[in-house]
Amino acid sequence: MAEISGFQSGRRLFLQAAVLGAAFPRAWAEATDAAVYGSGLPRGPFGRESTAEEVTAGLDLSGMTAVVTGCNSGLGYETMRVLASRGAHVIGTARTEEKARQACSGVAGQATPVVLELSDFQSVHACADAIEALDRPIDMLICNAGIMALPELQLVYGLERQFVVNHLGHFLLVTRLLESVSRAKQGRVVMVSSRAHFMAPDSGIDFDNLDGAVSYIPWEAYGRSKLANGLFAAELSRRMAGTRMTANSLHPGVIKTNLARHLGREIDDSRFDKTIPQGAATQCYVAAHPIPAPISGEYFSDCNPAQASDLMYDEALAARLWSVSEELVKR
Ligand SMILES: NC(=O)c1ccc[n+]([C@@H]2O[C@H](COP(=O)([O-])OP(=O)(O)OC[C@H]3O[C@@H](n4cnc5c(N)ncnc54)[C@H](OP(=O)(O)O)[C@@H]3O)[C@@H](O)[C@H]2O)c1
Repeated sequence: MAEISGFQSGRRLFLQAAVLGAAFPRAWAEATDAAVYGSGLPRGPFGRESTAEEVTAGLDLSGMTAVVTGCNSGLGYETMRVLASRGAHVIGTARTEEKARQACSGVAGQATPVVLELSDFQSVHACADAIEALDRPIDMLICNAGIMALPELQLVYGLERQFVVNHLGHFLLVTRLLESVSRAKQGRVVMVSSRAHFMAPDSGIDFDNLDGAVSYIPWEAYGRSKLANGLFAAELSRRMAGTRMTANSLHPGVIKTNLARHLGREIDDSRFDKTIPQGAATQCYVAAHPIPAPISGEYFSDCNPAQASDLMYDEALAARLWSVSEELVKR
């Protein structure tokens, strides 16, 4: 709990820093304390320094299909590269055909490019249609794409953009593809959340402020979208009870990728705690390794189940988010 309370006091600093226009909250870059969480849950031999290649070493994923959103950059590209190298057929999504094709052609193994623009629900439907048309059970559905801390409020469908891109677009994609996930031997949905979910508003999801009309604080909005990723995984897991499917969320680490491109200035390298191969490890582990196969509804960090914020375990909040999201994606 020391880690959590430390983080929550850090959260106040974050918000102040955000208000003052500081570019990157230090507390987010604090090292994750590998305190043991969930003693009843299976734990693997991997940790903070493990790479995606290490956590998948020796796995034969041939015959399996993985969907990786945001495959053209950072953690998504490394995830696609490593899963394909282990034999999985990876369906890699990117915002344009050219980006998707270029990324998929850069990896050894089988990778199929598909266009997905998460801020456009028609594009999400078209992406789901294209994936369904391949007629393959989906063993791993890794919702990795995301944007962070847009300096100014931007609206899509009248809603704050990070909430739409990071949460709603993925909510729609996953719910559209669940039937294909259910046809896999043991389909896994993996939501790439963030430890930044601790920066969500005090109410978790401020449903009266999804349009930013009450306030807009870039890091708080990012935190809300990442909390939404975790709440969605938790609620999905409850709805999957009695099936072979699982759903989990995770924090990948703090890694130098293109994610910080909206911040407006370079981030001091001392803030990063992992390389890209290490950053892609937790999602590859949760998606593909046999040890976490029975685990569902959990939040992972450093390749093991970890303590999330209290809000992420709020079942009423998760259920409400689900029903609100269902309505919003009908727009
Ligand atoms: N890096 C970190 O320290 C860190 C920490 C915690 C959590 N995460 C999470 O890890 C995930 C991967 O981030 P990353 O660090 O690898 O960042 P990245 O290099 O910026 O990659 C993000 C990916 O998401 C795609 N994307 C952005 N907006 C999209 C949209 N509207 N529709 C569809 N795809 C979109 C990007 O496409 P374009 O290249 O075309 O923009 C890119 O492929 C994110 O969900 C992020 O929140 C990262």
